[in-house]
Order: sequence, then C-alpha cells, then structure tokens
Amino acid sequence: MSNENKVKNIDAPVHDWYRFVLSFPPHLVQEYIEKFGIEHGNIVLDPFCGTGTTNVECKKRGIVSIGIEANPITCFASSTKCNWEADTFLMYQEAEQIAYQAACLIDHCVELRYLTEEQNKLILKNSISEKPLSQALILRDAILAAHSRYEGYFLLALAKNIVYSYSNLKFGPEVGISRKKIYDVDVVPLWLHQILIMQKDIRQYSFQNDVSSFIINGDARSISSLPIRKKVDFIITSPPYPNEKDYSRTTRLESVLLGFINSKEQLRSVKKQFIRSNTKNVYKTDNDSQYVANISSITALSQSIEERRIALNKTSGFEKLYSSVVKLYFGGMAKHFQELKSVLAKNARLAYVVGDQASYFKIPIRTAELLAEVAENEGYEVEGIEPFRKRYATGTDTWLNENVLILKYVGE
Ligand SMILES: C[S@@+](CC[C@H](N)C(=O)[O-])C[C@H]1O[C@@H](n2cnc3c(N)ncnc32)[C@H](O)[C@@H]1O
Repeated sequence: MSNENKVKNIDAPVHDWYRFVLSFPPHLVQEYIEKFGIEHGNIVLDPFCGTGTTNVECKKRGIVSIGIEANPITCFASSTKCNWEADTFLMYQEAEQIAYQAACLIDHCVELRYLTEEQNKLILKNSISEKPLSQALILRDAILAAHSRYEGYFLLALAKNIVYSYSNLKFGPEVGISRKKIYDVDVVPLWLHQILIMQKDIRQYSFQNDVSSFIINGDARSISSLPIRKKVDFIITSPPYPNEKDYSRTTRLESVLLGFINSKEQLRSVKKQFIRSNTKNVYKTDNDSQYVANISSITALSQSIEERRIALNKTSGFEKLYSSVVKLYFGGMAKHFQELKSVLAKNARLAYVVGDQASYFKIPIRTAELLAEVAENEGYEVEGIEPFRKRYATGTDTWLNENVLILKYVGE
C-alpha cells in the first residue's frame, strides 16, 4: 500500500481536500501534539506548512496555529483547508449553479480553450490533454465569474481534480507524465463530487469554526519580517530536505491553471523564497552558506561530495552544484533557526521531521544529525532524534531513515 493510501485510511477528512502526497501523515502530528502535551491556550507554528497538515490537526483539536509557506498554491490550499465557516447548504447550491453554467458552456463550446504560449512553457509537456484542459478552464472561469464567497473551496476542489482526475501526471515521488493519457473525463461532475466531500467534512468539524489558523505566504528564513504578533509555544514541521525535490515543479500544473504562476519571472521569484534543497534552485546571489561556515561537519561533507564528483569525472553544471546545495541548504536552515527565535516563547519545544539522503554520488547525508548541530550552534538545546520511518531509495538501492529532531528553546 502506498504511503498516500495509508494516510487516507488514518484520518482523511479535510486533509483530502488537496494533495496527500505532499504532506506528512496526520498521525505524526497527533503523536507530537500528545507527546508535547499541547493544549488549548498554546500556539503551534508550522514554518514549512505545505498543505497544512499540522494546522488542520491543531484546528481539529481546538488548538490555535500559524503556518508559513513559500509556495502560493500550497499556501492557498492550507489556508482554505483551515476555513470551516461555510454555510454548506448555500455552498453546494452555488456550486450546482456554477456546474450548470459550466456544463452548458462546455456543451455549446465549438472551440477548445487553451493556455497562453507563456503559460504552456511553464508546465510539463503533455501534463493535460486538450479536452480536459479546455473544460477545466471553462469551469475555472465559471467559478471566478460567480464571485462566490465560497470561491476558495471551489478553486481548491478544481486544483485537486486537475492533478488527480483530469491530468496525465504521475508521481513517483517526482512528478512525471503517465504513458496512459486521459483524453476525456467528466470534469464538471467530478468537481461537484469533490464539493460534496468538502461539505461533509465542514459539517463534521464546524464546531471548531472559531479556532484560529493563520496561514502566511512567506519565507521561513525571514520570520522576523512576517506578521506574527504572538509568541509560539510549539513547532511541528517538516522542512524540505536536500533531496532534489522541486516543490514548484510538483505543483506547477495547478499553479498555472489557477493563475498562481503566470510567467517565468513569477516562477523564479517563488523559487527564490524556497530553502535551497535542489540543484535546480540555486542562484548566483545565494549566500546562505555563510550561516554554517563555522560548522566543520557540513564543510567536510560538502568537500567530500565535490571530491567524489571530481574522482568520478562528473562535469555537468548540475553535478557541479551538488556540493554547494548542501551548504546552502543547511545555511538556509541556520538562518531559519536564527529568525525563529524572534517568535518563540521561553521553553518552546520543536519537532522537525527530516529524511537522510544518499543521492549525491552516494555520499550519505545524515540530515537530522547535521540539523541538530546547526540548531545547537544557533542556541537551541537538542533533546533527541527519534526514528519515524524508513524510505526505500530506488536510485541508490538503499533504505533511508526519516527522523524527528526534537529541540528546545530556553530563551535569552
Ligand atoms: C516537506 S514539505 C511540508 C509538507 C507539510 N508538512 C504538509 O503537510 O504538506 C516542505 C514545504 O516547505 C515549503 N518551503 C520551502 N522553502 C520554504 C521557505 N523558505 N519558507 C517557507 N516554506 C518553504 C515547500 O514549498 C513545501 O511545501
């Protein structure tokens, strides 16, 4: 059974509104809420909140939370997932009207609708076939034209269906194009079905309406400039790891179709907000390495990667960047830990879920151990590293550990 399915069986409501595959499992958040003894009155922050698993789990338990996310589409998703205020009867009624209008337009539309040339360049070739794309665009425009107060739910339902039901995308774990293409699909009925799921979930949890979950689109390396006014008692998060995963690529299709990214420049400015965890996201002006220049284990790791590259005679531009990414990644996390102190309450406790890596010319990167050193260097106490699970890495034919790094911030 895939991880995604396992998660679905555990606690699907609300988490299933967007994309499970991007998130860590809700049960892990539940476990740390209990272990840390988090209760009403506490504030939890997830500085890399992605699709909002931590925030949704907190809200279900009546705990106030904040999320920071650099990718606008995932930020939008987590913020919508934490909004349970809808009058579900009206919401469904409006969705039916939109569905009716979109269906009429689709039936009478002689010409297909397309993306602009610039938008087309941003998405993976063959991400979505002509007909589903055209119908999804008609539905999107019908949603926007309705100016509904439920627009967020409607667009999120569309985003999820674009990825899982209308597109040719496959995830394993990187995004690619499936050989089996979807040429025709019931775009509108499937969307309406997704609204029904949301309606049911909101009804189940509407009693937690007034529990605040504040999601901010921003960079976790610049927390002091973000509008966080209250001190945070706990962190439960899963930051990126140095694993070549490009978060903007995994979410590209729905980002472009829903208008979150419209040009190369916009894409670049989104990517610049990310922690440097892959070689496709390194820029000339990057200087986060300076924050770990005094940590010898990180310098040594970076050096051994570069030496292995030279020994293997690997000369592509990407390969030459691997050793820098390691320093930039841990440097970025160091900057994050520095900035985080400005919002932490005394004796705050923190859980960081991270995975080891072995992809850079098979040199192991013990992420949790190195991150522990980085955090200690920034004045945090390391309480321990707890095993979470193992992942099989096909590229290197090895099992890699995912761990939870537990930290404490005593205060200054
Ligand atoms: C491992 S995922 C988090 C998954 C999350 N736990 C969930 O439930 O979906 C890491 C997230 O960090 C985000 N990210 C990367 N760099 C960031 C930064 N500098 N500030 C804030 N978020 C960032 C990525 O866009 C991605 O969504």
